Amino acid sequence: MQSVAEISGADFVYLNVMNRIPLNDIPASITLNTGVSMPMLGLGVYDMHGREAEQALLDALEIGYRLIDTAEMYHNEEEIGRAINRSAVPRSEIFLTTKLNNTEHGFEKALKAFDKSLKTLQQDYIDLYLIHWPVKKGRKDSWAALEKLYGEGRVRAIGVANYNEVLLKELKQYASIAPAVNQVEFSPWLYQKELLNYCKANQIQLQAYSPITRGLKFNDSRLIELCKKYEKTPAQLVLRWHLEHGVSPIPKSSKKERLLENFGAQSFSLADDDIQIMDGFNENFRICDDPADWQ
Ligand SMILES: NC(=O)c1ccc[n+]([C@@H]2O[C@H](COP(=O)([O-])OP(=O)(O)OC[C@H]3O[C@@H](n4cnc5c(N)ncnc54)[C@H](OP(=O)(O)O)[C@@H]3O)[C@@H](O)[C@H]2O)c1
Repeated sequence: MQSVAEISGADFVYLNVMNRIPLNDIPASITLNTGVSMPMLGLGVYDMHGREAEQALLDALEIGYRLIDTAEMYHNEEEIGRAINRSAVPRSEIFLTTKLNNTEHGFEKALKAFDKSLKTLQQDYIDLYLIHWPVKKGRKDSWAALEKLYGEGRVRAIGVANYNEVLLKELKQYASIAPAVNQVEFSPWLYQKELLNYCKANQIQLQAYSPITRGLKFNDSRLIELCKKYEKTPAQLVLRWHLEHGVSPIPKSSKKERLLENFGAQSFSLADDDIQIMDGFNENFRICDDPADWQ
């Protein structure tokens, strides 16, 4: 096997980590403000479909992933639900998130959309139901629908995605139940420190989507230096950085070796100095829309 010290620059090749990560190493969990436990490291399933998605889910559950993040918008709820039901892992050990699509806002529409997701997922309940985007027309009524679903015990926690501090403060004015989770784009290159601090102060768990920047920043020479030091891959370093900040990352992969690699972010720690170095990578780099445009 090539040693990490021999690897550098744009030619960075991933280490074969298959034998270095303990299988069935259940992710550390945190308790949400509803009292429900949620694994910190999860699997995002955007852009995977059919058999590929089903197999990725089965592989992920076998490796030890217990948090699965899907959405009506991803058009894969059916295969994701099927894989969950096929897996040997009991449903009660799996934390399943899905999201209200942008086209389904409003009180009655949101309730119907939830029913449809539940049916497509072939589940009796959802662990976390999120508003996918803060669509201006309807987000207030949709939140009331989510509160109703929570009150009826059909969902174990409710939350939002793509809410910045302004949007969270607006929500606070009319919400009877505070969001348990805010899922936003977050990475060392988009280190939203103030938003993270606001969420921590308000008992809202921050969850990071596109946490590994879809690999777009893996050639950052500062990251590569740290990879050599820790003998870890770029994905592992970046995911570890999230965990060190108390942020829940949900990287997507449909490849078993990468699922294993990403899961390995849980089995080492970063020195404070190195966390600070990575904090300094911030350049407000975004892949998705800025929620400020949705205020
Ligand atoms: N709430 C929202 O608005 C929102 C928006 C975007 C995403 N999300 C959620 O967040 C999840 C993650 O975000 P994302 O999919 O945008 O980006 P990401 O997790 O940062 O990156 C995923 C991409 O990186 C590749 N990859 C995975 N592990 C890798 C590794 N170890 N080394 C190199 N490449 C690797 C994957 O390809 P392979 O599959 O080929 O491995 C995939 O192309 C989504 O799946 C979705 O569940 C939510």
